[in-house]
Parts: sequence; C-alpha cells; structure tokens
Amino acid sequence: MDERIITSIEQSTDDWQYSLRPRRLAEYIGQDKAKQNLSVFVKAAINRHEALDHVLLYGPPGLGKTTLAAIIANELGVNFRQTSGPAIERAGDLAAILTNLQERDVLFIDEIHRLSRQVEEILYSAMEDFALDIIIGKGPRARSIRVSIAPFTLIGATTKAGALSPPLRDRFGVISRLEYYSTAALIEILTRAAQILKIPIEAGGAEEIAKRSRGTPRIANRLLKRVRDFAQVEGLTTITDDIADKALLALEVDRAGLDHTDRRMLDAMIKKFRGGPVGLETIAASISETRETIEDIYEPYLLQLGFIMRTPRGRVVTEAGYQHMGVAYPKANDTPTLFDFENI
Ligand SMILES: Nc1ncnc2c1ncn2[C@@H]1O[C@H](COP(=O)(O)OP(=O)(O)O)[C@@H](O)[C@H]1O
Ligand SMILES: [Mg+2]
Repeated sequence: MDERIITSIEQSTDDWQYSLRPRRLAEYIGQDKAKQNLSVFVKAAINRHEALDHVLLYGPPGLGKTTLAAIIANELGVNFRQTSGPAIERAGDLAAILTNLQERDVLFIDEIHRLSRQVEEILYSAMEDFALDIIIGKGPRARSIRVSIAPFTLIGATTKAGALSPPLRDRFGVISRLEYYSTAALIEILTRAAQILKIPIEAGGAEEIAKRSRGTPRIANRLLKRVRDFAQVEGLTTITDDIADKALLALEVDRAGLDHTDRRMLDAMIKKFRGGPVGLETIAASISETRETIEDIYEPYLLQLGFIMRTPRGRVVTEAGYQHMGVAYPKANDTPTLFDFENI
C-alpha cells in the first residue's frame, strides 16, 4: 500500500502524537456513550476495591482505542501493561506477562483478534478464574498444575469484533464500540492539539481540517501537522480556512476527505460498472488493491458518507456518490423511484 496521508493506520511518523494523547477521561473528547458507561464501571470498581471487569474496545483504526485503554488504567490508578496479539508468539510469553501483573493492573492487548489459538486458550482461565493451567513435563509424565495470578483487567482492542472467537468475546464483561467522530468533536480535538503544539488556528481552519479527517482523530492530527507546514512556508502565523483548503487540495484530500484512491474506486465503479452493483473482488481487481484493503480501509468511510451502499448483489454508488464525483446520476426508466410529492 502506498503512503496515504488520510490512512487511519498508525505510522512511525505519528510518534509525535503521543504528546497529544489525552490522559484523563474528561479530556477524551466525544464517544459519549462509551465514556459514560466506562466512568460508571471505573468508579464502581474503585469503590469495591476490585479489578475492573474485562473490557473489549472495538472500532476502526485511529478512533482512540489505545488512548482510552491507557486512560482507564490512569483513572483506576493502576499500572498499564501493553502488548499486542501478533507480539505474543507462545503461550509461555503470555504466561510470563500474566504472572508479573500486580493486583488490579490493566493488561492491554491490541489487535486481540490476532492471538494464536494456544495463546488464546491461556487467556480463558486467566480471565475467568485468575488462574493459569501450566503443563509440566512431557509425554506420559506430563501433568497440569494450576497457578493463581493477581486479579487484573484485560482490555482488548480490535478493529474486527467479528473476528474474535465466541469463547473469548464472552469473557469480556464490557464491550464498547467506538464510533466515527462528528465534525464538532474533531474541531474540539484539533483545537486542543493546536494548543498543545502551539499552532494558532482559526475556527474556520479547524473546521476545514475536521471535515476532511474521515471522522478519525489520528487523521485530523496528521492533517493539522501537514497544514501547518504549508502555512509556515507561506509565511502565515495562523492556520486559516483558506490555507487549510489550499494545503489539503495540494495533498489531494478533497472536500469530503477522499483521496485519489477513494476517488479512483468511485470512478471505476461509475465508469466501468455503471455504478454497480459490483462485487468487492471485481472492484479490487479493477483498481489493483486487495479485497481486504478495500473492505477495511476504503469502504467503511465511503459507506459512512453514504457515497456507496451494500446490496445483496454487490456495492452500488449512490446519488450522493455520483454528485460528489461530478457525474450525472443515471435515471433508468425501469428503476423504481421514490414518490415525487411535488407532482401529486
Ligand atoms: N477522544 C479523543 N480525544 C482527543 N484525542 C484523541 C481521541 N481519540 C484519539 N485521539 C488522538 O488520536 C490518536 C490516535 O488514537 P489511538 O488511541 O492511537 O487510536 P486507535 O488505538 O483506536 O488506533 C491519538 O494519538 C490521540 O492523540
Ligand atoms: Mg491503537
């Protein structure tokens, strides 16, 4: 995959974003539903002097899962241990992490859907009974002993809740879905980030960037940084809506936050397949991308904008999608249309 500025996938150049991470729940903007519930559970756990129930956070990349997990540990006043599904290769690796936890610590496992089967099985008894079943010896003389571990909170993060095995999913007491952010929430996030980075920004400038950030704070913060570069080169001391618009167009991020790859996909669907329905595999082949990339990265945002639709026969470009691409929406006579009340 080429380097896309609007990609929500974390990049090494995003390191600077760590300074932008909110540390308290009150600083965590948006996601009101998740936040309200979690703050109740956190308070209750603290009052009972117990470990918080295990939490599963799911949603597209860049929406703040890792940030929220770290905030929960902070609010609980416990240690935050961080690892990821692919990083835990053997069951023994996980056992070592688990036996080193202190009471009520938070263990964060990112991309938890990518744990191997053997590693995952260790988690079952760890989550349920705070115990590990360890096999000692080999062959006929092997026996299993149960070792208890400190009560802890597992926070799992995944972009694909559906990819989690049911026995693992069922062991989470709290399951929270993170949603794309509204423009208003992103403006707040950008204003806060600009303050921390000491970049003066006008309300219009923040709005221009927010609208083009695909509902994703990680992208908003990244675009802010790039727009700042443009402003600086033009000798501006403040980010205005004008310079934001100019910079984003230069970066090929259009007014809906689409980049050249999104537009290439819509263009292919309209021109090669008359707007669909067309299957995901076919779309993928026509723009030389993988099915997974389209499904995980391009499609969710196009669906969210209402530019495409999923139908049983494949993907379809909507009227709004045609409009955005500046192509007239085909009005076939045999297509049933909505009632036109003005003519009744
Ligand atoms: N609710 C929020 N308020 C403010 N900033 C946020 C929020 N959520 C995410 N961010 C910012 O976006 C970046 C990406 O968040 P992150 O937690 O790494 O996302 P994820 O783990 O879901 O991919 C963080 O560096 C953080 O600065
Ligand atoms: Mg993360």
